Amino acid sequence: MQLDGKIAIVTGASRGIGRAIAEAFIREGATVVICGRKQDSLGQVALELGPRCKAVACHVGRADDIRSLVAGTMAEFGRIDILVNNAGTNVAQGPCLDMDEGAFDKMVDVNLKSAFRLINAIAPGMCERGWGSIINIASISGIRPQHHGLLYSMTKAALIMMTQSYAVELGPMGVRVNAIAPGLIQTKLSEYYWKDDSRRESQVNRQPVRHLGQPSEIAEAALLLAGAGGSYMTGQTLVIDGGFLLSSI
Ligand SMILES: NC(=O)c1ccc[n+]([C@@H]2O[C@H](COP(=O)([O-])OP(=O)(O)OC[C@H]3O[C@@H](n4cnc5c(N)ncnc54)[C@H](OP(=O)(O)O)[C@@H]3O)[C@@H](O)[C@H]2O)c1
Repeated sequence: MQLDGKIAIVTGASRGIGRAIAEAFIREGATVVICGRKQDSLGQVALELGPRCKAVACHVGRADDIRSLVAGTMAEFGRIDILVNNAGTNVAQGPCLDMDEGAFDKMVDVNLKSAFRLINAIAPGMCERGWGSIINIASISGIRPQHHGLLYSMTKAALIMMTQSYAVELGPMGVRVNAIAPGLIQTKLSEYYWKDDSRRESQVNRQPVRHLGQPSEIAEAALLLAGAGGSYMTGQTLVIDGGFLLSSI
């Protein structure tokens, strides 16, 4: 039980990577507050994950929703030990010159400002207690530019630097801040890249590890960063992509 008794918030956990992280944390003894925009799908996940999972609807792009998520969790559990900023979107795919300010603001609000708001609301309590682990789910698109993915790549790159900046300041107070940069993982968000047989095959054939990444393979790394196994790690970005980025070197 690597996370026995810990209280965690995992955003964007009604499916995909977030759900797999919540499942792994609960398996290892944590109580996990999961969030997403839709109470119905979240409630179903909470039923499946058991009594140590609580579902709270929260749009991470909205400051009021974030405030009530944090206040509700504190009122019920008294502390938050682990925060996983996983919720993310990619609504603005296309040529750089076609991107408008509305898309820019939405991508920044959901993928980036959400993490800033949640960390600033939760980390002070972690610092007072002298222990906390924060994990930001970035992307390999934050390390190399994704074609037609200006806003996605830009927000993920900023999340990686945000991770390092918080890590430097919060480390002396016992709070570690790390990121994970997944490559292609089989979820709804990335279905364009894997649903079509030939596109999936060409993607997987560019990876030294020849299978399509699964949410559980990100969850096991999040578990390492969240618990005692990651006690000497902070400010890092773990690239988990089957070796995909190596092919461009
Ligand atoms: N899959 C990949 O290949 C891949 C690769 C690199 C990085 N990532 C990153 O991994 C993270 C998880 O992605 P995924 O692939 O698991 O995606 P997914 O299957 O589409 O799941 C996204 C989750 O986030 C929630 N969500 C979306 N917008 C939200 C919002 N505004 N407020 C609150 N919750 C929201 C969704 O629930 P609702 O729709 O009900 O709100 C869902 O639970 C993202 O940050 C993504 O950028 C994914």
